[in-house]
Amino acid sequence: MKLLEITGGNQLTGTIRISGSKNSSVALIPAAILSDDEVTICNVPEISDTDVLCDILNYLNVENKRASESIVINPKNLENKEISETYSKKLRASYYFMGALLGKYNKAVMFFPGGCPIGTRPIDQHLKGFEALGAKVTIEKNKYTIEADQLKGANIYLDVPSVGATINIMLAAVKAEGKTIIENAAKEPEIVNIATFLNNMGAKVTGAGTSTIKITGVKHLKGCFHEVIPDRIEAGSYLIMGALCGNRLKIDNIIPEHLESLISKLTEIGVELEMGTDYIIVSKGENYKSTSIKTAVYPGFPTDLQQPFTTLLTQCNGKSKVVETIWENRFMHIPYLCEMGADITVKNQTATIIGSNKLTAKEVVATDLRAGAALVSAALIAEGTTLITNVEHILRGYESIVEKLSSVGAKIKSREI
Ligand code: EPU
Repeated sequence: MKLLEITGGNQLTGTIRISGSKNSSVALIPAAILSDDEVTICNVPEISDTDVLCDILNYLNVENKRASESIVINPKNLENKEISETYSKKLRASYYFMGALLGKYNKAVMFFPGGCPIGTRPIDQHLKGFEALGAKVTIEKNKYTIEADQLKGANIYLDVPSVGATINIMLAAVKAEGKTIIENAAKEPEIVNIATFLNNMGAKVTGAGTSTIKITGVKHLKGCFHEVIPDRIEAGSYLIMGALCGNRLKIDNIIPEHLESLISKLTEIGVELEMGTDYIIVSKGENYKSTSIKTAVYPGFPTDLQQPFTTLLTQCNGKSKVVETIWENRFMHIPYLCEMGADITVKNQTATIIGSNKLTAKEVVATDLRAGAALVSAALIAEGTTLITNVEHILRGYESIVEKLSSVGAKIKSREI
């Protein structure tokens, strides 16, 4: 078990280079098995979630080699075996093997996926999509057997614009016979990144990034070279830390357009931002104004930044509100922020924050990945040394967080307990 020790009160200055997107990479790695030849994916972050997916590739006898930021994957000897509950449960994205194995071999057997405990996280829309394509789904004590004689293109309307379901259906449909149309598809940049990868392999996917995605099935997918987009959530998290204690902190290697909702909220409360084409320089401003956010699907305010943004709202003068509309259990960081001195009440899916309040170091728990980012943000400005446990959650999504923050002036250490 690891613990983070952060002594607050230091300015952050210098450059943080943003890694490749976690939520793209965790779909691209399973998607790679759809190819008949070797694929190279570069700018893959070294985080525990991508490590676990490579363990699953090894288990399926898929050659994979990591060389600095790239992964080379060759699925030619793949054995389509049942993926155990131990593997399936290690992360949410294990479920992309459902779509990829179904798409390639017409059969996938695995268990309900794991992931952060931020809600019940059903997968009914994924299964509805597989069934529409002609697969039969059998569920036996958490084990999902998804099988088809031949997948056939279909029109699929998603009841919710789910990121996971959109990607999983694309993976299953790229080799299906005929045309598939996904309506009410999710529009997140990660979806576009996955569709580009599939097209680089020879798939025919159009409309990714809009709510209607069209896929014409092809017989074979070939090897390719593909680059992961920068992680907009990692970038947003460091922008928020810069707003809390930055002094010309440069957040580099980003696509600013992917962060528009956050940028407009930061500007609204009074954060100083200097925009570049692939970077933003952020400095702490004076007398931040309160504001309200409501999480929404892209391009709305991302739920994954709601938790760290709440920490920033504790430093705004007056009453702010946060409405969480995507996940029913994404306020687990709030009791810890309150212990550190924040004034926050939660009713139903709304948190009301009264600021600004001085924060003091405490022993806190990273209950999930982004709660962890919220607590790291709080620790950076708190008086004293904060101890954060359950750091494993943070390491699932933030590559080299200790090194990145230390290099810009934070006092942060990781140690085993
Ligand atoms: N939903 C259903 N049925 C489904 C699928 C989803 O009702 O079959 C609901 C969910 O319960 C939720 C909403 O639809 O209320 C959105 O879920 P979505 O499927 O879009 O989420 P996801 O694919 O499981 C991804 C990211 C999450 C991020 C969400 C929303 C990955 C691996 N995870 O999850 O990222 O919060 O999209 O943007 O891509 C994180 O990085 O911290 C994280 C949790």
